[in-house]
Amino acid sequence: MLGQLLHLSGIDSVIIENRSQDYVIERVRAGVLEQPTVDLMIESGVGERLQREGMFHDGIYINVHGERRRIDMAALTGRRITVYGQNEVVKDLIGARISTGRPLFFEVSDVSVNDLESEQPKIRFTKESETREIQCDFIAGCDGFHGICRPSIPENHIRIYERVYPFAWLGILANAVPSSPELVYSLHQRGFALFSMRSNAVTRLYLQCAPDEELSHWPDDRIWEELLTRLAGSEGWKPNPGPITQKGVTGMRSFVAEPMRYGRMFLAGDSAHIVPPTGAKGLNLAIADVWRLSRAVAEYYRSGRPELLDRYSEDCLRRVWRAQRFSWWMTAMLHKTDAANPFDCRRQLAELEYVTNSCAAMTSLAENYVGFPL
Ligand code: PHB
Repeated sequence: MLGQLLHLSGIDSVIIENRSQDYVIERVRAGVLEQPTVDLMIESGVGERLQREGMFHDGIYINVHGERRRIDMAALTGRRITVYGQNEVVKDLIGARISTGRPLFFEVSDVSVNDLESEQPKIRFTKESETREIQCDFIAGCDGFHGICRPSIPENHIRIYERVYPFAWLGILANAVPSSPELVYSLHQRGFALFSMRSNAVTRLYLQCAPDEELSHWPDDRIWEELLTRLAGSEGWKPNPGPITQKGVTGMRSFVAEPMRYGRMFLAGDSAHIVPPTGAKGLNLAIADVWRLSRAVAEYYRSGRPELLDRYSEDCLRRVWRAQRFSWWMTAMLHKTDAANPFDCRRQLAELEYVTNSCAAMTSLAENYVGFPL
């Protein structure tokens, strides 16, 4: 997305990626886009398939011990969300990049960032056993939580805020017709579960599990049994089962690195911050970061003024912390913790009662869920 936004401003960039093109296109990840993300994709010419294939949702359901309650986000906020796989977004962006003819290298290795404090930082990497170097004006560290950019910042120049949760999500993709037109977030005595979708024929589901859960302990029958138990509504609603085509376990953490800049390197997305997936914010935060970064870089080339670059970290972090609070709150409200004492269990239920009955509380959830303007 950053490459596309820079391209539209006439700015050169080189994109390098460790993995193969097929890997990044096929790896199923998040799926909820905020309206500002959708608008930005459309405005930057990469929203055509999204507008055709995206599934527009006006609300979500919260299932509290079998009772499904709807939060009408469109009525409460005037905005809605779009369900469209992150890998589909990536596919569209790769297509757009290739059609610009600008450089995009997959399957590179030995990547390092160098001379970050200088006017001309450098990226070194290997491609097809050849060592290469890019001389840059700026480096964008969009290389995720496990990438090399953040760890290349000297420790005394970065502060880390972190919380690791004592659970994870086991996620599956199934060839099954979605049985609800909207997402269902569920808290059950046995733990959290989430019903989502990718198309009219593909359902995406998640189960709260242990952080070190072994996938080999989860044959398909066990997964379905658990999903049906945790998601079923007392009025008879349940997901349609079907053949499972992908399975994976995702750990849950909240993480922020501040500031999101060192010298001429700017961090964006998961390299600087991680949210637990319960608030569906990760991809949207990354898009907001690169939108800001593209504007700051464009302003610098246009006028020579570095003010937006200098404010980049502070401006991003306001949105990041708002999303951190929301994602932590949704996670705490909807997951079962073993350590929970009976008081905490009742308080959690009281929270869910409040959030599904009070118009003020529902509006608070809804405005955060649909996302704030960029
Ligand atoms: C998804 O569809 O993958 C999804 C939806 C909502 C979430 C997280 C993931 O909160």
